[in-house]
Amino acid sequence: MKEKLQQIRQIALKEINDNLNLKSLEELRVRFLGKKGEVTNILKDMRGLSSDMRPIIGQMANEVRVEIENKINEAKDSLNKELRREKLESEKIDISVKTKNLKRGHRHPLLKTAEELEDLFVSMGFSVVTGPEIETVENNFDALNSPENHPSRDLSDTFYINDELLLRTQTSPVQIRAMKEFGAPLRVVTAGRTFRFDDVDDTHSPMFHQLEGLVVDENISMANLIHTLDIFIKELFGDDIKTRYRPHHFPFTEPSAEVDVTCMKCRGEGCPVCNFTGWSMELLGCGMVHPKVLENCGIDSEKYTGFAFGLGIDRITMVKYGISDIRLLFENDNRFLEQF
Ligand code: DAH
Repeated sequence: MKEKLQQIRQIALKEINDNLNLKSLEELRVRFLGKKGEVTNILKDMRGLSSDMRPIIGQMANEVRVEIENKINEAKDSLNKELRREKLESEKIDISVKTKNLKRGHRHPLLKTAEELEDLFVSMGFSVVTGPEIETVENNFDALNSPENHPSRDLSDTFYINDELLLRTQTSPVQIRAMKEFGAPLRVVTAGRTFRFDDVDDTHSPMFHQLEGLVVDENISMANLIHTLDIFIKELFGDDIKTRYRPHHFPFTEPSAEVDVTCMKCRGEGCPVCNFTGWSMELLGCGMVHPKVLENCGIDSEKYTGFAFGLGIDRITMVKYGISDIRLLFENDNRFLEQF
């Protein structure tokens, strides 16, 4: 039996050495160590041995079994490693190879303006927040103090999804979300898409973009509003640009104003672009947050006041780059977009 074991051991080790794949190694394992394997059979045959031989052969058979098992595992391991190496080798790509005609793109002018505006306000201590384009009627109108019969709520002005949901007509509902989530004091800006039932022409699109700002704190006054917006407009357009605040009405601010700036084309001289007024009209809307809006969001309007503003990103982009037709911004014509 000893010799038989030695023989099995030799054959097994040789075959393991000669074996070149995982499948045949597994077959060898079954052949020698499986339930009916050659080593297993020897262990079974030990019943016929004398009691002094049994432990000796038993130990030897065990050693042979362990040795074969280890060798098979080692062989499998090195095969697996080799396979992995080959696979990695074959999948290698050279990322430094230059591809032909790969044009480098850049961000859309609207996105550039939005990010530039956000950066400006971040530098003044504002945080950037976001809100959904599908909004509740409550956040878009009611909480913003828009009366039930306000014309902007009309079916012909707003894209309703159902009685409670709509495509937001302005970024102002993000004010509501921010105040409800963070409370006062607060200093936030948000930029994003807005939707109105408008026919397309050179200055109108049913989808456009707004940037909204909101500051709520103790002792906030109209002076803070004007100072903040003047700084922002000068940063954006240049130091020689003047601003003009015209009284206006928005349901969510009181008092409210619209802001005009010096015409970029003639720098205030008067030209056809500004109808010879020297002013670019209605660049943004703003005002002191209506106490009812603060209260709607659980903010004590006796303790806190605030100002807010909203502007059209498309409009600003057009003024900034001298683009005369809003449709150019949405047509995705590379000949146009490549200029920015
Ligand atoms: N939401 C207004 C609009 O779409 C713009 C606006 C005006 C926003 C005054 C404001 C604001 O936050 O205070 O016409």
